[in-house]
Amino acid sequence: MQTHEIRDRFTNHFVKAGHTPVPSASLILDDPNLLFVNAGMVPFKPYFLGQQNPPFPNGTATSIQKCVRTLDIEEVGITTRHNTFFQMAGNFSFGQYFKEGAIKHAWSLLTDSVEDGGFGLDPERLWVTVYLDDDEAADIWHKEIGIPEERIQRLGMADNYWSMGIPGPCGPCSEIYYDRGPEYGKEGGPIADDNRYMEIWNLVFMQNERGEGIGKDNFEILGPLPKKNIDTGLGVERVACILQGVDNVYETDLLRPVIDVAQELTSAKYGVKHEDDIRFRVIADHSRTGMMLILDGVTPGNEGRGYILRRLLRRIIRSARLLGAPGHTMEKFMNTIMDTMTPSYPEIADNRERILRVAVTEENAFLKTLESGTALFEDAAAAVKESGKTTIAGADAFALHDTYGFPIDLTLEMAAEAGLEVDSEGFDALMAEQRARAKADNRAKKHGHADLSIYREWVDNNPTEFAGYEELETNSKVIGLLADGAKVQAVEEGQQVEVVLDVTPLYAESGGQLGDRGVITMGDSLLKIDDVQKIGKKLWVHKATVEKGGLAVGDAVTATVDDAWRHAARQAHSATHLIHAALREVLGPTAVQAGSMNKPGYLRFDFNYTESLTPSQLAQIEAITNEAVDSDWTVNTIETTLDEAKAMGAMALFGENYGNVVRVVEMGGPFSMELCGGTHVAHSSQIGPVAILGEASVGSGVRRIEAYSGMDSFRYLSKERALMEGVASSLKAPSTDVPDRIAALTQKLKEAEKAIDDMRKAQLLAESAGLAAKADQLNGFEVITLTLSKGTSAGDLRTVATDVKNAFGEKAGVVVLAAEDGSGKVPFVAAATKAAVARGVKSGELVKTLGGYIDGRGGGKPDMAQGSGSNAEGLQAGFNAVRDLLGGLK
Ligand code: ALA
Repeated sequence: MQTHEIRDRFTNHFVKAGHTPVPSASLILDDPNLLFVNAGMVPFKPYFLGQQNPPFPNGTATSIQKCVRTLDIEEVGITTRHNTFFQMAGNFSFGQYFKEGAIKHAWSLLTDSVEDGGFGLDPERLWVTVYLDDDEAADIWHKEIGIPEERIQRLGMADNYWSMGIPGPCGPCSEIYYDRGPEYGKEGGPIADDNRYMEIWNLVFMQNERGEGIGKDNFEILGPLPKKNIDTGLGVERVACILQGVDNVYETDLLRPVIDVAQELTSAKYGVKHEDDIRFRVIADHSRTGMMLILDGVTPGNEGRGYILRRLLRRIIRSARLLGAPGHTMEKFMNTIMDTMTPSYPEIADNRERILRVAVTEENAFLKTLESGTALFEDAAAAVKESGKTTIAGADAFALHDTYGFPIDLTLEMAAEAGLEVDSEGFDALMAEQRARAKADNRAKKHGHADLSIYREWVDNNPTEFAGYEELETNSKVIGLLADGAKVQAVEEGQQVEVVLDVTPLYAESGGQLGDRGVITMGDSLLKIDDVQKIGKKLWVHKATVEKGGLAVGDAVTATVDDAWRHAARQAHSATHLIHAALREVLGPTAVQAGSMNKPGYLRFDFNYTESLTPSQLAQIEAITNEAVDSDWTVNTIETTLDEAKAMGAMALFGENYGNVVRVVEMGGPFSMELCGGTHVAHSSQIGPVAILGEASVGSGVRRIEAYSGMDSFRYLSKERALMEGVASSLKAPSTDVPDRIAALTQKLKEAEKAIDDMRKAQLLAESAGLAAKADQLNGFEVITLTLSKGTSAGDLRTVATDVKNAFGEKAGVVVLAAEDGSGKVPFVAAATKAAVARGVKSGELVKTLGGYIDGRGGGKPDMAQGSGSNAEGLQAGFNAVRDLLGGLK
């Protein structure tokens, strides 16, 4: 039974029983705690927790959810059942049927005959497990379903109590296993052997809420959920493995074709050597996971999701390489897996090109890395061997990693292949040093000194109250002062200091918005604030210069935000939100935010996207943004819980850590809704004009848009207009005619250049026509060494040299020419006739000799060689040396 049929049967079975079919969610959901969707229930979380009512007529649903789990990445290919990407088929009941319903639905689908729409599994081969004290479930299995007691086993928290691994719904579960027969392991049920007895379906009786904790069995249970629910997960690929009678999940109809293609591309065969088989399976598994991740908008990078994708793609390349395919393989793997997956995921068809481009770009980059790194590795390995040692130094392994991005495991592997070891401890120590340095650098950048513990007491006892959403001036008290990184009681004129206040109106840099500028005053004392940084979430540190007077701990001061700064900062931050929204409208939801920065009048916005934007896309984004400005929407800020914010549809940056209460900034209803702590205008029209400066790549798969806002946009546009007027006036044309006029001028210029070039060539040929006759006789050779007129190109030199050589005919003739090409380079060329070559002349040697005198290099064949130098003054001496060389030949 093909996988897509298994999917259809599952869905039909539950739709017939009244479940609403729900399409798979993206692998990437706005959950900062979850890198990828890892279970079918993830999109349904708010319904289980009772935060939202399930929008399904019968309170039941069914889905086949794309899932990615990469924790077991090392297991892939070694065991028979670990896929990093898999499809979880599930049925969900929100307060409707419970244990009995779930068990009966599952049993009938598994054991009903194929003609009746089931999977036709032999009931005698099915085993189940239940949670330790779950007699209720055990009774249903035994009494209602008829499974003999010896095939019902009890397991503890780690196995039969399910949660997402993070706070959320949880509950005891019951798992269904299929006995694959004695050839797969020992008797005794799932407790004895989980390879022979393969888990295929997990029924979770979702009834409690889990709190913080670690792992599968070490967390607090907060209490019961509002209702008793059902969440189940059937492993589609495992059922396929059983129904297709194949040995493991890598050999099913969806993945096996990739293994076959890999066999064609490599010198190895599947099924011969266990080590090779693992590599084949890694290729098949990772190709699919990589493809599905790219489909959902992930691009290779060095952190988070991007890093996982990069790792998967690189493991494919390395595995292929170890199987004997050193070249490009990615395109074939990707095409094959896209073919097998498209029937179930038709959206792949529209994304084929993009997916290929992302994967192949990464392959190209990694192959280059491998090439340069391999050379370095081989040098290091040879040196070790020569010195009679067997260990590659940690410093060499570190250099490979640091300079060439060569993963350490690859170095280890290559060392093993060369019969060597690597000083891993030395490597680890260098890595640790580097990390510490980077950390210290980062801190030092922001806080002037690396040791944050100096702030600890204030963070704990005197967190700053931020009043800057409502006020631009506060009466504050000085809580603490730092000068030169040390706590002090007082500061005086001229010092650079850090000031901690009890309450401040100044915004501290965060969420991409720079810190406010402003002043702290007290009587005649004046401190100019140069920057404001946050320590953790709670402490505001004002970096300031004491311009007049002084300040002491305990003083009562006034803290004031620079009005103009804040006004323009608000404009820029609100403009950032509008551009983000416009960008997603134009490019689609895969253009996920990757970072942003805004300061008065200017913003930049980074997002995941592999292609450069077209001028028309940029124009559209700019137009939508300015229309949003013009709509004069009220900017609403709403304080709420994270879950509610997400339910409202607010966009959150992945991985950001928000407190319990979050702030949603909304403009134009659903148009722009983001979790954000920044300062914003009150009405969108206050942003003023937004002018996009351009967009560019800032690393693999990440692009950046830059823009001006408010008066800076105006100044920018007005400058552009002045430039245009300047151009128009020098062309003596109205500005609307400028593009046509420039096109016409460029065309004319091209024609003129061509005419000049033709004339020059004609002149050159005329000159060269008589050259051969002017040759000197030297040691039986006809020899010409000559500097041609300035401006002669390398190509022209070659033409003349060839002409002269031909004119020598049967004689033993040699011609060496050089010229200053006008761009600072001195190209040169040497040519020798057949008869000259027969006497031992090597043009390559001649150019090397000449090159030595004019700071140049060159090479070529005996009859023709060329090169380029930079010091024309050495030409005469060089020519003399060439003549000496010819004179010395026999
Ligand atoms: N949520 C359950 C699991 O992932 C069904 O196993």
